[in-house]
Amino acid sequence: MSAPKPSYYHPSAPNNCIPANSSRYVLVTGATGFIGAHVVDNLLAKGFSVRGSTRSAKKGEQMKAARPQYADKLDFVVVEDFTKTGVFDSFMEGIDAVIHVASPFFLDTTNNEQELILPAINGVKSILSASAKPGSKIQRIVMTSSFASVVDVSSTPAPGFVYTGANWNPLTYETAVDPASTSVIAYRGSKKFAELAAWDFIKTEKPQFDLVTLCPPMVFGPVAHPVADIASLNESNASLWLVADGADPLPGARVPAWIDARDLAEAHVQALIRPDAGAKRFIPASPEPFSYEYAADIMKEEFEWARDSVTANYKGGVKPQASYEVDGATVARELGVTYRSFQDSVIDLIKQVKETIA
Ligand SMILES: NC(=O)c1ccc[n+]([C@@H]2O[C@H](COP(=O)([O-])OP(=O)(O)OC[C@H]3O[C@@H](n4cnc5c(N)ncnc54)[C@H](OP(=O)(O)O)[C@@H]3O)[C@@H](O)[C@H]2O)c1
Repeated sequence: MSAPKPSYYHPSAPNNCIPANSSRYVLVTGATGFIGAHVVDNLLAKGFSVRGSTRSAKKGEQMKAARPQYADKLDFVVVEDFTKTGVFDSFMEGIDAVIHVASPFFLDTTNNEQELILPAINGVKSILSASAKPGSKIQRIVMTSSFASVVDVSSTPAPGFVYTGANWNPLTYETAVDPASTSVIAYRGSKKFAELAAWDFIKTEKPQFDLVTLCPPMVFGPVAHPVADIASLNESNASLWLVADGADPLPGARVPAWIDARDLAEAHVQALIRPDAGAKRFIPASPEPFSYEYAADIMKEEFEWARDSVTANYKGGVKPQASYEVDGATVARELGVTYRSFQDSVIDLIKQVKETIA
């Protein structure tokens, strides 16, 4: 099975990429977020120069200060509202490629359309338009979409069903923005309609760059971005920390699939540098299903303190079961990514949070 080329893609577009181990300059949006910071680190380690965009000058300065060895390879630009037309235009000079990670990912909303859906869509339009301006030498854009834009939560898949990059969640825009819909539903819509906006842009504008989208499920693992306190922990890791901190009942997993943020960063960068990745839609996902019960078992096994804090109110020792499979194998094969174990991901995050943030 090969990663699919969405029908939204115009077939005459070239397969672009940027060479590895070069002094090429990559713009990463959302660079001071959980996934974005790992993407920044992966690029720097491979020799790229990186421009991060952030809403917070302070977080940009903190990221730079924590990486003194890359002082001349890393800079930040502040884009406070990336939904406004033209906000990226003055920051594109010299940029060879873009990894667009930024998108609202929080569930404590008051207006789903204004806070989640429109910023996600307009952020995509903004960065793609800036990348397509005359004189731009951008060759490829890699975008962080989500398994939320893939999974059909209303269906009960037949045994053995495998989600691939060819699947789309069937949510309508009307349902996503309906004030009666939960923020989880709205988030699923934000990711679907933002990704569609990107593929539509490629189809209608026929820019000089090609597009790769990555649709990861839950993302866990240690943080590389500035996190001031537990309340500032990103949404997905916050659920794992809740387990360590004694949540009772344990959170319920919305999907059984996951990936470590370090492996996801590798997938982003490989998607940038491999010629054949162009115009494809991938699901980076570990082959190992997860559950918060399994996470609780791991924490109790690994950390003495967790034996007191983690609730006893669950059935331990049960291997996570998934009601469907997710095709993470294509990313392993076509992007050369090796997946970490859930155990390593949980231990690395919880140890870090306990020792440096909590
Ligand atoms: N974590 C997961 O489980 C998961 C799973 C699948 C897909 N994703 C996707 O991965 C991406 C990054 O998420 P994350 O987990 O790293 O969460 P995160 O730490 O909350 O990062 C979100 C990033 O997006 C930026 N952002 C959010 N709203 C913005 C806005 N209105 N204008 C400009 N920038 C905005 C934030 O900028 P600041 O740093 O300046 O605040 C931050 O850097 C998102 O596209 C998310 O949908 C995440």
